[in-house]
Amino acid sequence: MNIMNVDYSTKIPNNVNLSEDRQVLKALEGWHPGYIDWWNDMGPDGFQQSLVYLRTAYSVDPRGWAKFDYVKMPDYRWGILLAPQEENRVIPFGEHYGEPAWQEVPGEYRAALRRLIVIQGDTEPASVEQQRHLGKTAPSLYDLRNLFQVNVEEGRHLWAMVYLLQKYFGRDGREEADELLRRRSGDGDSPRMLGAFNEATPDWLSFFMFTYFTDRDGKMQLHSLAQSGFDPLSRTCRFMLTEEAHHMFVGETGISRVVQRTCEAMRAAGISDPADVAKVRALGVVDLPTIQKKLNLHYTLSLDLFGSEVSTNAANSFNSGIKGRFHETQIKDDHRLQNDTYPVLKLVDGQIKRVDEPALTALNMRLRDDYTQDCVKGLLRWNKIISTAGYDFKLTLPNVAFHRQIGEFRDIHATPDGVLIDDATWNKRKTDWLPSVDDGDFIASLMTPVTATGEFAPWISPPKVGIDNKPGDFEYVKIET
Ligand SMILES: [Fe+2]
Ligand SMILES: [Fe+2]
Repeated sequence: MNIMNVDYSTKIPNNVNLSEDRQVLKALEGWHPGYIDWWNDMGPDGFQQSLVYLRTAYSVDPRGWAKFDYVKMPDYRWGILLAPQEENRVIPFGEHYGEPAWQEVPGEYRAALRRLIVIQGDTEPASVEQQRHLGKTAPSLYDLRNLFQVNVEEGRHLWAMVYLLQKYFGRDGREEADELLRRRSGDGDSPRMLGAFNEATPDWLSFFMFTYFTDRDGKMQLHSLAQSGFDPLSRTCRFMLTEEAHHMFVGETGISRVVQRTCEAMRAAGISDPADVAKVRALGVVDLPTIQKKLNLHYTLSLDLFGSEVSTNAANSFNSGIKGRFHETQIKDDHRLQNDTYPVLKLVDGQIKRVDEPALTALNMRLRDDYTQDCVKGLLRWNKIISTAGYDFKLTLPNVAFHRQIGEFRDIHATPDGVLIDDATWNKRKTDWLPSVDDGDFIASLMTPVTATGEFAPWISPPKVGIDNKPGDFEYVKIET
């Protein structure tokens, strides 16, 4: 069987030869009804019978892997797709540096690997749950389609992790796979595993921020796992990254289009001060200070996903060869890091200071730094839109000490500029920096659905190009069928 092409003859599309792997096929087929129940209960609310113009992977060839067609979401072919096996791949870091990559789970790392896969797997359905109400307020059919594309692919990412659990982890893998369908985002009794995945995604600006900042955490984690010495995990993550790029595109261009529309409206109305919130809001667009607050919230929630800056878990995962660094194979060092240091921002005597820590325990910090660098690119684009419109206003990333619940700065308060402040000041000022109830109400007031082809809600610009090069009036979702 050609690994590049996907076998659609089995109930579960795959390029891992499932039809000859009876036991795993049976386990996955046993899991399938529960997944469909979960999708029906927790997937997009409404629209399940609508025809959506979705892409589906038919190949894992990076030169051409997706085809577009109208599909009802419950009929989407969620499949198991691994990037092609690299011949003679070796473990690119840690104690086993240079040894052949593992095709089976090494016994001594079984528990740690399973945990990493479960944590990654848990985020995938969580975001679908968080976004399930957004369809009802989509600003256009184009955006509605993008939401559903992201949702079905997060569903596929769950399948990807469940395949690894069921194929390589026996009975406890099957139990974990069931648990992934049992937990619910934001649930009091059985929440999802990570904080940001239990937060609400109440409106479309949140959705764009989430896909920009939180899916980008996912990208960093997938990149690190794509380096794994456990080859099936590496290959799984490599293909997931292909899909993930679109999710971040949705976020980046979504925010661009909101910023664009706000600037156009301000100019048309002759507003010179973008910080004049009341005047800007009267135009029915999102003011730039509120966009900054949303950005502050989603960026900091996403920073928390990287865990503690200094972590022996991170060191162990690296040493044992199960989780590498961002672009590990391109880094020029010994890939063992036994004698290296890395600068970590810490709280020292009430001040934020850079402290050199052993590079191994500082790996979360390093990945977070790589993440921040990656985030900056979008801000440059958004700020370009603002400056081109003639406004003196810059969106910025807040200091990493601001609004943290995990790591070095979880017990203190700081301003977005990184000035430490006391509780009273924080409580007085936090709604200057984070969305308030009023801000949320205002954004909610803009969220009226637009379902006519080629039309867009007045708070967001149309995209520059259509999906699959479709024209502006293309019917991306046939709501009535
Ligand atoms: Fe994902
Ligand atoms: Fe994603």
